[in-house]
Amino acid sequence: PRVSLIGAPTDVGAGHRGARLGPEALRIAGLGEALAARGVDVLDRGNLDGPRNPWQKPVDGYRHLPEVVAWNRLVMDAVGAELREGRMPILLGGDHCLGLGSITAIARHCRETGKQLRVLWLDAHADFNTSQVTPSGNIHGMPVSCLCGIGPEALTTLGGPAPAMRAEDIRQIGIRSVDPGEKQLIKQHGLDVYDMRYIDEIGMKRVMEEALEGVDDNTHLHVSFDVDFLDPSIAPGVGTTVPGGPNYREAQLVMEMIADNGRLASLDIVELNPILDKRNRTAKLSVDLVESLFGKSTLMRD
Ligand code: ARG
Ligand code: MN
Ligand code: MN
Ligand code: MN
Repeated sequence: PRVSLIGAPTDVGAGHRGARLGPEALRIAGLGEALAARGVDVLDRGNLDGPRNPWQKPVDGYRHLPEVVAWNRLVMDAVGAELREGRMPILLGGDHCLGLGSITAIARHCRETGKQLRVLWLDAHADFNTSQVTPSGNIHGMPVSCLCGIGPEALTTLGGPAPAMRAEDIRQIGIRSVDPGEKQLIKQHGLDVYDMRYIDEIGMKRVMEEALEGVDDNTHLHVSFDVDFLDPSIAPGVGTTVPGGPNYREAQLVMEMIADNGRLASLDIVELNPILDKRNRTAKLSVDLVESLFGKSTLMRD
């Protein structure tokens, strides 16, 4: 494949500062080199340049809404440009509010090319809050609801009047922290959530088989990888750690099964906060997992 790295160094949607350093941390951990070593044609497009983080309190239930809108427009345009050139965009966040711009561009590309969309949302959180139910006002807790058309008009109509995505286009995996009002909304909209309890009970292999069911040659598969998906014991470099996440082997299996499916067409790597890390460990782990996502395998039978 031909891949483009797009850095979006911002934490305007988060409650901690530091995710703005995610793109550099991933580059320093060798993301580009690791992909190139797998035979991938990699272009690093550098970083987008959006508004600074004003670090203010929420207004009407949203923190930094104008800045979040501006960053997501930049991301949407950059991701859309790569897709039109036939390249696979890898968004280096930045916080998870950017999944909105990224997936809005991807959904539009799917409509234009007649593909079905499947989003795998790897996260400790469902990110399905609204201004009414958010406990924090942080917009990185709202991208999924906005993509489904629930949220402020500036965010829900980023790519046009219709919602970018339907609830049935997404599968959420690794979820273990959902706010009370958010939970109600998730049920109301019928989101497919593979939470940690379900993963513990049926195992990651079956979860991934279910999440990838129906992903065929006519499907654009997008992975939105919030690094806080991983258990904090292996991935401490994120602002919103939640205990009880997938361990190293489970995370590897997730990536390997996506690679085996063969339809990965775009990727977000978000929420990495190297300020909270030790020796860039979480970025290195992320690169290790991305290698598996691109087909690196420890299997003896391949
Ligand atoms: N549910 C919490 C909130 O809305 C945390 C969201 C964390 N999201 C993330 N992308 N890390 O404030
Ligand atoms: Mn395409
Ligand atoms: Mn998230
Ligand atoms: Mn999260």
